[in-house]
Amino acid sequence: MTETQVVSDAERLLESLGHLPEPVVKPAFIVVSGLPGTGKSHFCRRLAERVPVVILESDFMRKALFPSPTYGIEESARLFQAIHHLIERLLKKGVSVVLDATNLSERNREHLHHIAYRCNVRLILVRVEAPLEVVQERLRKRAEGNALAEDHSEADWAVFQKMKGSVQKIRHNHFAVDTSRDITPVLDKIVREVNR
Ligand SMILES: Nc1ncnc2c1ncn2[C@@H]1O[C@H](COP(=O)(O)OP(=O)(O)OP(=O)(O)O)[C@@H](O)[C@H]1O
Ligand SMILES: [Mg+2]
Repeated sequence: MTETQVVSDAERLLESLGHLPEPVVKPAFIVVSGLPGTGKSHFCRRLAERVPVVILESDFMRKALFPSPTYGIEESARLFQAIHHLIERLLKKGVSVVLDATNLSERNREHLHHIAYRCNVRLILVRVEAPLEVVQERLRKRAEGNALAEDHSEADWAVFQKMKGSVQKIRHNHFAVDTSRDITPVLDKIVREVNR
C-alpha cells in the first residue's frame, strides 16, 4: 500500500462522515473493544449524544471504501490503514474521535496507543461485553433482518464464534461495560473522563 493510496482512502472516509464536531484544544480519543453483538455501536451512539465526538464505525467505513465487502485480510488491512490515518488527522485538528471496531487483538490496539501518544491525547479504552445468550439473541434478530436502520454490521453468530478465538485480554487500564444492564453509569464515568 502506497502512502498516496492511504491518504486518498482516508480522504474518502472523511467525506463519508458528514458533519464533524467543533475542534477543541484537548480532543478525546475513545476506543471500544468487543465481539459482534456485544453492543459497541449502541454504546458509541449513546456516548455521542453526550459528548461532541465523531464516530468512526469500521463497518460503515468498510462499505464506504468497499461497497461489496469481502471482509478479507487485505481489505481489512487497507481499511484500517485508512482509519488510522484518519484518526490521526482528526485528533491533530482537535476533533474528538470514538473508534467503533472490534479491536480484539493487542496488536490492533497497539496501533491506537501509538496514535494517542503521537497526538498527545489520552486513550480511553472501553471493553464492551454482554452475556452469551443476550448476544446470541441480538445476532439472531439481526440475521432475521430485524436490525435497526443504523446497524451497519453483517456479523452473525457464526462470525461471533469465529472471532471469539482472537480475543486478547486488555493489559492497559480500561473501562468495562455489560450492555445487558444499564449502561448509564459507565457512560457517566466516561463523560467525566472526557471532560476532565
Ligand atoms: N445497551 C443496550 N440496550 C439495548 N439493546 C442493545 C444494547 N446494546 C446493544 N443493543 C442491541 O443489540 C444489537 C447489537 O448491538 P450493536 O449493533 O451495538 O453491537 P456491536 O457490538 O456494534 O456489533 P458488531 O460488532 O457486529 O457491529 C442491536 O440491535 C442493539 O440495538
Ligand atoms: Mg457495530
